[in-house]
Amino acid sequence: MRRLIIPALAALLAPAIFSACTESHAMEVSSPDGRLNFSLHLDDEGQLYYKVRKDGTAVVDSSALGISCKEFSLGHHSEIKRVERTSKDETWMPVWGEESEIRNHYNEMCVHLHDGDIDGKTGIDYMLRVRVFPDGIGFRYEIPGQEGMESMTIMDELTEFALHEDGVAWSIPWNHEYYEHLYEPSLISKLDTVCSPLTVKMTDSLYVSIHEAALEDYAAMNLSPVGNSTRLRTWLTPWSTGEKVFANAPMKSPWRTMTIVSTPGELMLSRVMLNLNEPCAIEDTSWIEPSRYIGIWWGMHRQAYTWGQGPTHGATTENTKRYMDFAADNGFGGVLVEGWNKGWDGDWSANGDQFSFTEAYPDFDIEEIARYGSSKGVRLIGHHETGGAALNYESQMDSAFAMYNRLGINSVKTGYVNPLMDGKEYHSSQYAVRHYRKVIETAAKHHIMIDNHEPVMPTGLQRTYPNLMTQEGVRGCEYDAWSPEANPPEHAVTIPFTRCLAGPVDYTPGIFNYDNPVAPHTRPQTTVAKQLAMSVVLYSPLQMASDMIENYEGKPEFEFLQRCPVDWNKTLVPEAKIGEYVTVARQDKENGDWWLGAMTNRNARRTKLPLDFLEPGKKYTAKIFADGEGADYRSNPGAVAISEIEVDSTSALNLNLASGGGAAVIISRKDAGQK
Ligand code: NOJ
Ligand code: CA
Repeated sequence: MRRLIIPALAALLAPAIFSACTESHAMEVSSPDGRLNFSLHLDDEGQLYYKVRKDGTAVVDSSALGISCKEFSLGHHSEIKRVERTSKDETWMPVWGEESEIRNHYNEMCVHLHDGDIDGKTGIDYMLRVRVFPDGIGFRYEIPGQEGMESMTIMDELTEFALHEDGVAWSIPWNHEYYEHLYEPSLISKLDTVCSPLTVKMTDSLYVSIHEAALEDYAAMNLSPVGNSTRLRTWLTPWSTGEKVFANAPMKSPWRTMTIVSTPGELMLSRVMLNLNEPCAIEDTSWIEPSRYIGIWWGMHRQAYTWGQGPTHGATTENTKRYMDFAADNGFGGVLVEGWNKGWDGDWSANGDQFSFTEAYPDFDIEEIARYGSSKGVRLIGHHETGGAALNYESQMDSAFAMYNRLGINSVKTGYVNPLMDGKEYHSSQYAVRHYRKVIETAAKHHIMIDNHEPVMPTGLQRTYPNLMTQEGVRGCEYDAWSPEANPPEHAVTIPFTRCLAGPVDYTPGIFNYDNPVAPHTRPQTTVAKQLAMSVVLYSPLQMASDMIENYEGKPEFEFLQRCPVDWNKTLVPEAKIGEYVTVARQDKENGDWWLGAMTNRNARRTKLPLDFLEPGKKYTAKIFADGEGADYRSNPGAVAISEIEVDSTSALNLNLASGGGAAVIISRKDAGQK
């Protein structure tokens, strides 16, 4: 009751406060537990600033807010008109995800402002809406429809994040190429322009991740330090013509988010981004099915097959049926086939407009394959590589999705391999954001799930459109096939705290065979046990077992990938240190089993993991897939030791991770008729 009265009182008193809104009379809103606090103030000129404190200690120092448009600017000459306050405490159920229930608990302050009356102009009404959760903050600009203003051209958003400490930030540089970089640690003050999410260790007990939520019809947010300071300023990805965003009133910016927690594990468990997205817009979601898949894929990257036509064309009817047989025998729901359609011959990434999304190569009988797949309970996963030719794709996608739907194909992997979209726009520009959104909505109309490669950085849209299953936007496993620099051992223990905070990732783990005739010095810099653990740690509702199927034959450890669930009831992060190690435990939504993935960087690691998350008094069997005797990611990656022990909630698991290694564990109830 008290919680309700205070905001209401504050709203009544608010007008009195505004007229003298100096720093000492800042308007503020706190999290429901009172620990996180966001305050807003104006300087004498009317420039709007905010600050963030946790437990009374500064997290973000006075940081400017504002938007600069061709037609007007906001934030520099503002006055506060009134404030509205509200609170929410609800629990919602995602269609799929890392948990079956998500609590959305925040206090909100919506500040109505007026900016202008400068140079004889009338000025603009706008709002800053702020939500404060126990584990983070979101705020956004809203410009209501008003007389004399229909459209606007945003030239810059001036939102700042002046971090109180010069902490260690893990980032990838901004450039127009796909986010496929290694996250490197550096002091904030030493950063160049970087992409979000940006993860910062401020102190041993304060971690912050800056990102955005609900990026819709706007440009993606990047961050750039002001001078060599810890003050980061928003830099929106521009159009080729230099403008950042074209918008009409009413308009809402994406939410600017900060997850603010005490441990790296809590960063992984925060759902602030998802909570700030709109609820599900798809009424009947029964056709949306998380699943595991294999594919005619690694063979191309390793040059055993080709995408285009020729003697080693991978996407043949016969080869696809072989993969479908394997999928059916081993519990996989889908088979991805790349290179099935016309357009791959020659320099495909430069000639994306040559791609057809409905016409197959003559040696790929799509009708027969779809029929064969459905007789075996396996779906073909379509592949739509566009070479960045978005307009060509838009002209065909409706008919392509309709064809897929008729054939019983319900997932499509899209791709945009070209530094630019349609030869001129960045992947993170408003142009591209509009395109990706069109794809998701058109796919939903035809009951198609999307796995988007070379995307704009995800921002939680899967809450609204849960057919947006997974996305790349990461330096994935493909680099272990052909890059002169394969993903180093630190990579998989860094991305859970960086890229993965933006949502599910199609990293495509699961490589067992490290011989690489094409690039002999390139191969995964992990043990096989760590490849298994990735399947649990790197969450994706469409999760790939990415090796060629012959490399799984006769390998007992393959059981882990065959059975690993993709939809969870609960997720825990018992141990984590960014760039060093991480252990994730997830509970299967279907049967309550626990699946555990532990990974380390190049330093071998012993750990004793308490299993106190198990139900007290119940007996379980833990099947452990660990690094075997002498395992080492350089000299002996394939040694996996499989063992079984009986455990309960008072047990602790001794895990022995090799250099570059990992462990994967299935913990099943003994009395539940386990497999
Ligand atoms: C890059 C994607 O990330 C990869 O998965 C795909 O195989 C190639 N493009 C070809 O589309
Ligand atoms: Ca890629």
